[in-house]
Amino acid sequence: MKVPPLDLKAQFEGIREDVQQRVEEVFQSQGFILGPLAQELETQIAALCEVKHGIGVASGSDALLLSLMALGIGEGDAVITTPFSFFSTVSAITRLGAEAIFVDIDPVTCNLNPDLLNNITQPNVRAILPVHLYGQLANMEDINRWAWERDIDVVEDAAQAIGASRNGRPAGNWGTLSAFSFYPTKNLGGAGDGGMIVTDDDDLAEKLRSLRDHGARQRYYHDEVGINSRLDALQAAVLLSKLPHLESWNQKRREIADQYREALQDLPIELPVEEEGNHHIYHQFVIRTDRRDELKAFLDEKGIFSAIFYPVPLHLQNCFEFLGYHEGDLLEAEKAVKEVLALPIFPELGEERFGMVVDAVREFFLESRS
Ligand SMILES: Cc1ncc(COP(=O)(O)O)c(C=O)c1O
Repeated sequence: MKVPPLDLKAQFEGIREDVQQRVEEVFQSQGFILGPLAQELETQIAALCEVKHGIGVASGSDALLLSLMALGIGEGDAVITTPFSFFSTVSAITRLGAEAIFVDIDPVTCNLNPDLLNNITQPNVRAILPVHLYGQLANMEDINRWAWERDIDVVEDAAQAIGASRNGRPAGNWGTLSAFSFYPTKNLGGAGDGGMIVTDDDDLAEKLRSLRDHGARQRYYHDEVGINSRLDALQAAVLLSKLPHLESWNQKRREIADQYREALQDLPIELPVEEEGNHHIYHQFVIRTDRRDELKAFLDEKGIFSAIFYPVPLHLQNCFEFLGYHEGDLLEAEKAVKEVLALPIFPELGEERFGMVVDAVREFFLESRS
């Protein structure tokens, strides 16, 4: 038996009828773009985040891009972000002609370290874009305080954190705008690409509804140049079927994380730390070890999934060379990329597969290679 990264087939068995019924509804209506199911999903995701508006878009990457577009960010502006994230956190900034300024991560949580924000002196910073990496919120109290003092907008990259919270306040509730992804492997994943922006700001919500539809508030009358990035009704149908299960699925991930911690605590590895006040939803369960590549090869041999999120820090990606960063500039992120390893975590993992992962990791450190 192998241990996969996810078991979406098993997940589907539990929701099959509901999904099929809603998908049938979409085909009956033959309305495939936005529409009542997408609106329902927008309402429900906004409620989950305790904000007024949800704007369904075509992906998490577009949710970030459109958020920055709505704030009017472009050439001559700078946006602060983390070097340790998925690519589109930064491409959203540079695509608009703005400059990305990287702030190194906190080595414990791997999230942007707000203590380093005071080193930023550029006067053209318009926004800060923190990421809730692996499903744990960044230190939003400190980030927001720093931003408010300077009248800078905060855009949350909450792509990995739907249902997570910090001191009782949900992901998506902290930024001027917040971006979610419904990529199929996310804790709430669609049957294809999808994303959402949430906000409490009425004007920005209206602007975003226009920007996602070519900048037209009324069809064929364009006030601004937007893009085509609307949520499909079929995605909304699938996501509405899954949403009622999100809390229990996240809870199951939390239980598995606790079990991993217990089972691996005596090994020479760093286990993920849940910061006080954080309700982590373990989109990923990421350990750290300086023998990461050896461990990964060992698990691969046994058919046990593991993955490196992420192998290259964003400031050292070839395509961002023009930003002028070099090796040695952001040491914590550069160290993390050499040490992190995600182990399988998903609600349907089950005892047997969990046991296989634990046994293999223990064997690696205690018997075969130490
Ligand atoms: C942190 C982060 N930001 C942005 C994205 C982009 O989302 P999508 O793949 O839906 O475009 C992802 C997911 O892939 C992500 O993990």
